[in-house]
Amino acid sequence: MNNSTITVSTEPEWYRKAVFYEVMVRSFQDTNADGYGDFRGMIEKLDYLQWLGIDAIWLPPFFQSPLRDGGYDIADYRAVLPTYGSMADFDEFLAGAHARGMRVVIDFVINHTSDQHEWFQASRTDPTGPYGDFYVWRDTDTAFSNVRIIFTDTETSNWAYDEARGQYYWHRFFSHQPDLNFENPAVHDAVMDIARFWLEKGVDGFRLDAIPYLYVTEGNTGESEPPTHEFIAKLRAMMDREYPGRMLVAEACQQPQEVVDYFGSPEAPECHMAFNFPVMPHIFYSLRAGTAAGLVSTLRELPETPQGSAWGVFLRNHDELTLEMVTDEQRAQMYEWYSPEPRMKVNVGIRRRLAPLLDNDRAQLDLANALLLSLPGSPFLYYGDEIGMGDDIWLDDRDASRTPMQWTDGANGGFSEAPADALYLPLVSTETFGPHAVNVASQEPNPASILNWTRDMLALRRRMDVFGTGTMTLVEASNDSVLSFVRAPESGRGDTVLCVFSFATEPVAVELAVGSPHVTLLDVVSGAPVGATDDSGTLALELAPRAWHWLVLGP
Ligand code: NOJ
Ligand code: CA
Repeated sequence: MNNSTITVSTEPEWYRKAVFYEVMVRSFQDTNADGYGDFRGMIEKLDYLQWLGIDAIWLPPFFQSPLRDGGYDIADYRAVLPTYGSMADFDEFLAGAHARGMRVVIDFVINHTSDQHEWFQASRTDPTGPYGDFYVWRDTDTAFSNVRIIFTDTETSNWAYDEARGQYYWHRFFSHQPDLNFENPAVHDAVMDIARFWLEKGVDGFRLDAIPYLYVTEGNTGESEPPTHEFIAKLRAMMDREYPGRMLVAEACQQPQEVVDYFGSPEAPECHMAFNFPVMPHIFYSLRAGTAAGLVSTLRELPETPQGSAWGVFLRNHDELTLEMVTDEQRAQMYEWYSPEPRMKVNVGIRRRLAPLLDNDRAQLDLANALLLSLPGSPFLYYGDEIGMGDDIWLDDRDASRTPMQWTDGANGGFSEAPADALYLPLVSTETFGPHAVNVASQEPNPASILNWTRDMLALRRRMDVFGTGTMTLVEASNDSVLSFVRAPESGRGDTVLCVFSFATEPVAVELAVGSPHVTLLDVVSGAPVGATDDSGTLALELAPRAWHWLVLGP
């Protein structure tokens, strides 16, 4: 297929109105019965993603890798892992997505490589050769002592000793993932070339993995240091120049003031999008605390983001539900609520999926998902959450929530024809969440299923640009179990929507200070009028437990 058949929109800010879907190639569909999902399987399932209403697919790393960190340990940036298929399969997948109007964003993991990468092998055996300086080497393990350890469950130091070179190398993640040395200009060139390689193929953007950690300088924390931002701006400038319309999304789990820095400035733009790590855990906090107070203050604290930028909002992804962005008290409380079994914890977070976290309770799931689709920014769904898939806490580390997609109630949930013990991970097998109970095929014909709810909501949201590009203004609520905000069109044209979410487990009466007097409100979902604001612009509502509403403000 050549470029002329590509049907994705040409809108440069496409990512502001997109719904993203994260799926790992190995988890979706196995077509050659080896137990691993593959690109042929991804191609087969493109129609499903289009039917669901997905605008962009995010693929975590699918490159040559020893798979000791789910592929985030890359051994060759330009090679597809043969288990997943060939480069031709990837090209066909990309063209197939584009032909259906869907974009493809891939992971760009440049903080570190696998220790199997040829650069590292050369670096350790030939210190004075061309790759000698590609990694961060020291004679002792004492430098950068201010830098925290991220994988607290597995690592005790950010330094590891290499016998061959007789020196220590720096690593922010697993010790088999040496960090690249961004002080070396040759590393910049190598990384830029890899970016061009994939952009040239036609990928629509990159998720910048672990992006705060590129540079570390003595006495500092090794997070969000100024030269790291300079490098991102350099990458962005190259893309704007050579591949306009492609997108960068930052994975920067940082406090609100720091995370917005990843959008850059008008003079030196960086990422188009950044994941909203500060807001995510507060959604889960509110769901159990029954109060929206923490969420309201986090939303209030979020600094303005530059023109044309967008948050990436999410509930879950392939990692643990990280609790780095809440206070110590909130974290302790959340562990109590969401991690009753100690083995559900990992690092500073919880390794569970959305449905089991929320008691497999539709009211809670719908509330959380409706909020996800209402917040400023573009939602990122995690594969399987659209059918309420479960997890397996007996698997290691974050594999707990990376089990095969459940398509049918048949063998291996329709994921693979391999013998069950050959699968990359076993299917979830509990009574509540196994494929006989949770699968796409049985939910498709059921209009009340979570799958059809998700699809209907995406279709509804697609008709209302305001959710992608509109402004957000918090609305004062008389009851702190209620979160309410107005989404208004950026340009002044189009619908204005009052969004209301009750975290209370009891019915509540609430007064919302909408502001404009004598405005009628229409429920977007039911089409029914729900009332009007009074002389003072206040709307009185009775809300069912865990109710949510999208209300269009009338003339
Ligand atoms: C962030 C990725 O999301 C995570 O899965 C991975 O383990 C680390 N980066 C290290 O690459
Ligand atoms: Ca396969």
